[in-house]
Amino acid sequence: MKKRIGVLTTGGDCPGLNAVIRGVVRAAENLNFEVIGFKDGFEGLLPVGGDTMELNSTNTAGIMALGGTILGTTNKGNFISKVGAGDVTQVKPEVLARARQTVNDLEMQGLVVIGGDGSMTTAQQLFEAGFPVVGVPKSIDNDLEATARTFGFDSAVACVADALDRLHTTAKSHRRVLVVEVMGRHAGWIALHGGFAGGADIILIPEIPFRYEKVAEAVIAREKEGCHSTMVVVAEGAKAVGTEKLMRATEHGEFKMGGIAEIVACEIAARTGKETRTCVLGHLQRGGAPTTLDRILGTRFGIKAVELIAEGKFGHMVSYQNYCVKDVPITEAVHRLRLVSPDSEMVHSGRAVGISFGD
Ligand code: F6P
Repeated sequence: MKKRIGVLTTGGDCPGLNAVIRGVVRAAENLNFEVIGFKDGFEGLLPVGGDTMELNSTNTAGIMALGGTILGTTNKGNFISKVGAGDVTQVKPEVLARARQTVNDLEMQGLVVIGGDGSMTTAQQLFEAGFPVVGVPKSIDNDLEATARTFGFDSAVACVADALDRLHTTAKSHRRVLVVEVMGRHAGWIALHGGFAGGADIILIPEIPFRYEKVAEAVIAREKEGCHSTMVVVAEGAKAVGTEKLMRATEHGEFKMGGIAEIVACEIAARTGKETRTCVLGHLQRGGAPTTLDRILGTRFGIKAVELIAEGKFGHMVSYQNYCVKDVPITEAVHRLRLVSPDSEMVHSGRAVGISFGD
């Protein structure tokens, strides 16, 4: 009988998920494995027999360049195991029991979980409960530990750089300050790399608390040099010294970040007299076609996940290290988030080209 493996995408979507799915399917078929896709993340494990679709190289042809995920995903439901960057909660035993029944009924010999920090925490719980799980690291935020890269990040950075290219011309024409809010609740990778690539003048990230007077000084210094427009990139989780991150409640009782750009813009206007505008990129950063880098990385990650299953290396996550695709125990990826070091070469390079971090 053919070996049968499953694959699911979970947490927030991001460009490159379909590249991973396609990579899994092709690598699996080469080993003569069957592949079942579970719909809507871990939730697809719960209905009797699973909520599934058969995946093969015919029905996954052409999906690599598509954003989103053909399997669907959710960052809510019965398997949420992490709230924010810390607080781990246990998946309920009755939920695990239903999922186990599905895995047994379908005689699955491996399950590829494609997700971020919270999803890997759930994957680890499933592994400890005896599920044959392997992980693939996904996040536009690039904040997962134990891997130098997650797929999806490069596409988000490309989106930010493209937006800045467009915003520079209008900011310059009107001699305005433009404050662009990007994703990144805990980590400033998108703001740092997107801002760097898009020629931002000021970058504000969660890891470097900023002072409004320093931000205003940077704008005024540019003005004196004859640069009458300024581009500010602010991560949604950035905060001024002595303040808290901006959170807003949603209809589901959760807290989401957002709104910092408007405050930064008002403070700059009040302190410099400059006309300011804001632009919140939001979910544009999660949509659209993956970059070539994310297509290649996603495919390589998918292939590696199948290899891990073939080797019986369950409880491991694919990891990118020194340009090679390797693996690490999932536990190494979930104990904390990977943040930007204020002393890193990228931050130093930013300062070297005149970027202010508002500190
Ligand atoms: O974790 C990825 C992320 O894109 C964050 O940067 C952002 O705050 C969050 O997801 C938004 O999630 P949602 O899709 O629930 O609005």
